[in-house]
Amino acid sequence: VTRATTAARAAAAVSAERLQALFHSISEVGAYGRAADGRHGCERLAFSEEAHIAHQLFAEAARETGLTVRRDRIGNTFARLGPADRETAPVLTGSHLDTVAAGGCFDGAAGVVCSLEAVRAVSLAFRESGAALPRPLEVVAWANEEGARFPPAMMGSAVYAGSLPIEAALSATDSEGISVRDALAARAPGEGTQPLLPPASYLELHIEQGVELEAAGVPVAVVDGVQAQLAGDWRMIGREAHAGATPMERRRDALLGAAALITEVSGIAHAHPPGVATVGKSVAFPGSRNTVPGLVEATIDLRHPEERAVRTMAADFIRAGEACAAQCGLSFEFTERWRSPRVTFSPHLVDLCSRAADAAGIPALRLFSAAGHDAVNLAPITPAAMLFVPSTGGVSHHPEEFTEMNALVQGARVLSATLALLLG
Ligand code: GLV
Ligand code: MN
Ligand code: MN
Repeated sequence: VTRATTAARAAAAVSAERLQALFHSISEVGAYGRAADGRHGCERLAFSEEAHIAHQLFAEAARETGLTVRRDRIGNTFARLGPADRETAPVLTGSHLDTVAAGGCFDGAAGVVCSLEAVRAVSLAFRESGAALPRPLEVVAWANEEGARFPPAMMGSAVYAGSLPIEAALSATDSEGISVRDALAARAPGEGTQPLLPPASYLELHIEQGVELEAAGVPVAVVDGVQAQLAGDWRMIGREAHAGATPMERRRDALLGAAALITEVSGIAHAHPPGVATVGKSVAFPGSRNTVPGLVEATIDLRHPEERAVRTMAADFIRAGEACAAQCGLSFEFTERWRSPRVTFSPHLVDLCSRAADAAGIPALRLFSAAGHDAVNLAPITPAAMLFVPSTGGVSHHPEEFTEMNALVQGARVLSATLALLLG
């Protein structure tokens, strides 16, 4: 039996019914905003009750499929097919189950569900070909990819890859001062095992969150890399004052300075095409109608395919912050929260994904990722690559985020064929 035959068998063994059933059960966790057609959004912030339940559903489905499940100290869930020894490194595949606040059902979960089904299909194909699996296959559901509540983003994969110390991750706090350690302890007391060997390779399927696949009418993309990113928090500090009794020239209005800076942010991005810049959150204090705001706390997210451009955009942003603060008699503070480099995926693995799509008879584009992914953290420690499936209208981080079930199945087939080629 040739490798291409086993890959084609692995692609064909993917069950649309199984994939759909698990995807729908996970999608019900944290469901909100149900429309007349039954579609809805998902909110499962990292380390919440909802995220925990989603990890449990994944673990149950994996056990039913014959995989062995363990969870590590940061709350990543691993499901392994094959012996849990320290001799043979597994091929790892997965994505995340947490979402942003008011998010969609597909960002992350699509990859976890497709990975489990792909691993099941590969094991069937090897059995059919009369061959033993040459190394373990492991499916992972990463904890806290979004970093929406507890920065940094891609936390679980960073701890796993060794780029973020576990103690630093556990000590990270949300805006209320609650730590990851406390949030984890409330859900899964006493759990946690050390990672085994680093993986032999890593594959992640994800929704595109852009419009290229839809525009091309192609079901799958092989991803070449991910753009660089810098995330920070910033503050404008003024002084609270009476909204009636304080003349305009005596005010130090923090919200006025913040508004001026926010207006500059899109110009900073436009000056560095194709860079993007976002102030996703800003809160004015004390938040009272008849008090001049004395403090604004806000975020900034800067991205560009080139790391140098991200650094220039950050310097431009800080300079603009200081200038806006000076104009309004305020002080400006900036704290960098995380940086993620530009990543180029393993050319060998990218090529293997393309050949797997051929073997499965599924057309595939090549794309570069604008969004961040856990694969960014895996790339320095093992050959990594990603597959994208189409996002209707490019909508993501929104309840209307949507991918056709057939596209998920096609993606799982290419993933399954890639795993088979990797093992073959
Ligand atoms: C993850 O969703 C990101 O912010 O790119
Ligand atoms: Mn996301
Ligand atoms: Mn994601």
